[in-house]
Amino acid sequence: MNFELNETQSLIRDTARKFAREVVAPQARKLDREALFPKDVYPKLGELGLLGVNIPEPYGGAQAGVVSYALAMIEISAACASTAVGMAVTNMAAELINAYGTEAQKKKHVTALATGQACVGAFALSEAHAGSDAGALRTRAEKKGDRWVLNGSKQWITSGAHAGVIVVWARTSDAGNKGLSCFIVEGGTPGLIVGKAEDKMGLKGSNTVPLTFENLELPLENLLAREGDGFKLAMVALDGGRIGISAQACGVGRAALEASVRYSKERKAFGQAIGGFQALRFMMADMHTRLQAAELLCLRAATLKEKGLPFTREASMAKLFCSETSNWVCDRAVQIHGGYGYIDEFPVERYLRDARVQTIYEGTSEIQRLVIAREIFKTVST
Ligand code: CAA
Repeated sequence: MNFELNETQSLIRDTARKFAREVVAPQARKLDREALFPKDVYPKLGELGLLGVNIPEPYGGAQAGVVSYALAMIEISAACASTAVGMAVTNMAAELINAYGTEAQKKKHVTALATGQACVGAFALSEAHAGSDAGALRTRAEKKGDRWVLNGSKQWITSGAHAGVIVVWARTSDAGNKGLSCFIVEGGTPGLIVGKAEDKMGLKGSNTVPLTFENLELPLENLLAREGDGFKLAMVALDGGRIGISAQACGVGRAALEASVRYSKERKAFGQAIGGFQALRFMMADMHTRLQAAELLCLRAATLKEKGLPFTREASMAKLFCSETSNWVCDRAVQIHGGYGYIDEFPVERYLRDARVQTIYEGTSEIQRLVIAREIFKTVST
């Protein structure tokens, strides 16, 4: 097992870290307080290769692999989780089209996503009645002559109002999971109606909207892979996406721990810096240990994916553990800050609000446990 980063991985991590510190972090508080979408930041992330870290260079990506992607996500997330989730979904959409698209689809859409020309990508799977039970979605696509015609509504679509490229799941037959297909929809296509942005508890700089399709017409070539392949594509994309959210959780957790260490060095009580008290030092030791374990799970899943090995279970374990750890660490960070942790003068209350959704989106902790349990039962023989 090799725990050392190679040259490419170090370069991507350092590039992301520098950009995170110089550009992303300074505006994170404003994005949160004013619910502003960081539209100007994504083209810059694209220029740095961070919107297509695992995408081949001919399609505008950095071709730097999945571990590099996770490392970059950790850095951007430590600065601003809202900016990072837009980056994660863009990479996820680009990777899906890169894996299953035709040459023409890749040239057009993967390039637009990876370079930031599309601003961001979106992933439109969930519907009001179908979140965990993704296979129950009802949006329909019907073939009419030389067009696909889409009708239906999606819910909770990250970056939906700003995405230049959206991968959309729709039902093309009533054959349960096998009746789903995946389509590429460009932002601004007539019939695409963007609903009111949700007023969320956290990730306020990320845009979350319902999307409605009203007789939205697509050329036949906008079908991704084959008719009926949609559910499998969603599962494969989510396996990879869960590595991204694991990395986001590690980044937010790390930021919360660092804020706590800094605060505890300065804040005095009972005649000394509170960082000198064993109760707090032990708390921070546990935070650090759990975060390191989380990062190892995240990077292990990334390594397996990069090597082309099965990683479904490992991605779910990483997502489960990293997201729950991040919430625990952020909660401890608020505790260490005392009353100051509960007001927005310090960033830890934002970290806690941003971390909360990590155990919900890209599959809840309960869905991760379900996936992990299924995999264990498959592999342990009686
Ligand atoms: N890779 C490849 N194929 C897979 C797969 C995987 N990881 N998981 C399942 N499949 C295949 C199965 O092999 C099966 O194929 P066959 O029919 O050919 O045998 C088929 O898919 C159906 O699989 P299941 O029987 O396991 O399907 P299920 O209906 O029981 O559902 C589930 C499985 C794991 C619960 C799934 O519905 C799921 O992951 N739900 C959560 C959805 C989710 O994560 N949503 C997040 C929304 S996106 C988001 O949050 C983005 C954002 O904004 C940040």
